[in-house]
Amino acid sequence: MRSFRSILLTGGAGFIGSSLARHLLAFEKVERLVVLDKLTYAGSRDNLAGPDQDPRFEFVQGDIADRPLLGELLRQHNTTGVFNLAAESHVDRSILNADDFVATNIVGTANLLETCRAARVPLLHCSTDEVYGSALVPHKFLETTPLAPSSPYSASKASADLLCLAAVTTYRQDLVITRCANNYGLRQHPEKLIPTIIRHALRDEPIPLFGGGMQIRDWIHVDDHCRGMITALHRGQSGHIYNLGGHCERTNLGLTRSILTILGKPESLISTAPDRPGHDLRYSVDTTKALRFLGWSPQTQMAKALPAVVRELAANMAD
Ligand SMILES: NC(=O)c1ccc[n+]([C@@H]2O[C@H](COP(=O)([O-])OP(=O)(O)OC[C@H]3O[C@@H](n4cnc5c(N)ncnc54)[C@H](O)[C@@H]3O)[C@@H](O)[C@H]2O)c1
Repeated sequence: MRSFRSILLTGGAGFIGSSLARHLLAFEKVERLVVLDKLTYAGSRDNLAGPDQDPRFEFVQGDIADRPLLGELLRQHNTTGVFNLAAESHVDRSILNADDFVATNIVGTANLLETCRAARVPLLHCSTDEVYGSALVPHKFLETTPLAPSSPYSASKASADLLCLAAVTTYRQDLVITRCANNYGLRQHPEKLIPTIIRHALRDEPIPLFGGGMQIRDWIHVDDHCRGMITALHRGQSGHIYNLGGHCERTNLGLTRSILTILGKPESLISTAPDRPGHDLRYSVDTTKALRFLGWSPQTQMAKALPAVVRELAANMAD
């Protein structure tokens, strides 16, 4: 089991990172939590209101591409483990311009790898099921499924995964990779699908769904994802990949209908937008390995959890 005494969390001011910060501070083994975040358009200090108040918590604004800073942080805090969630995460933006995706997701991760290796600190690298490309029904992605990324975003994430795996083979570096399905929960950036649907619905504006919304995504509550990452760093085997998913496949159209029902809005708001180039039709992960070797499985049912999440996201938009 790896030590959680002093943790560095990158990307902690973003959607998933800000939830992971809360989970880590709830974990009694954590004596120190340092969040390193560049505060791009996607990150916000407001997401860390709460963790900010904990004496074990420290925030540092900085870039994972800054190797001297990373080395100094690991040394200064005697770090025992790193979670890497710093990333450019929006597929549409990557299609318009991939430069930041290459700089952070690939070069930044390479920097972090080097720094962790030099300091002998174990790393959890947070990846995505999008690295596998699209899954035909009824197939599910296994951790051994070949990588076939479709977008610059998923290609940058797959590249980082390969750098991580190569570091295990070449240097026997201690690291674990998780590949997770689509997350839903609080503090998600307004540009993502669920907040976009809510925003349009609240304004009674048409909700544009790429290609009519027939794409299928597996949805996982962000808290289940965070528990999975913590368990994976705690007892995952070095060099191993663990798929994490919610066991909840929905079409984007079906999900939109559910959100409209929760908000009491008519389905007539749903409209079609031209499909995204290279849009994967379906993501579906097999999570048997995480259950078998980590004892992890998702605990949250979307049908039960979605109404509260939608109402709180909606309330925050109205503020
Ligand atoms: N959102 C999902 O559904 C999902 C699913 C699977 C995996 N993931 C992965 O989870 C991680 C977090 O995703 P998210 O949805 O919270 O993203 P997000 O865009 O909400 O947050 C990313 C955070 O990283 C920070 N950041 C960006 N570049 C940085 C850099 N160079 N140095 C330091 N910080 C930097 C941003 O300021 C932001 O706070 C990503 O690696 C993403 O690929 C996300």
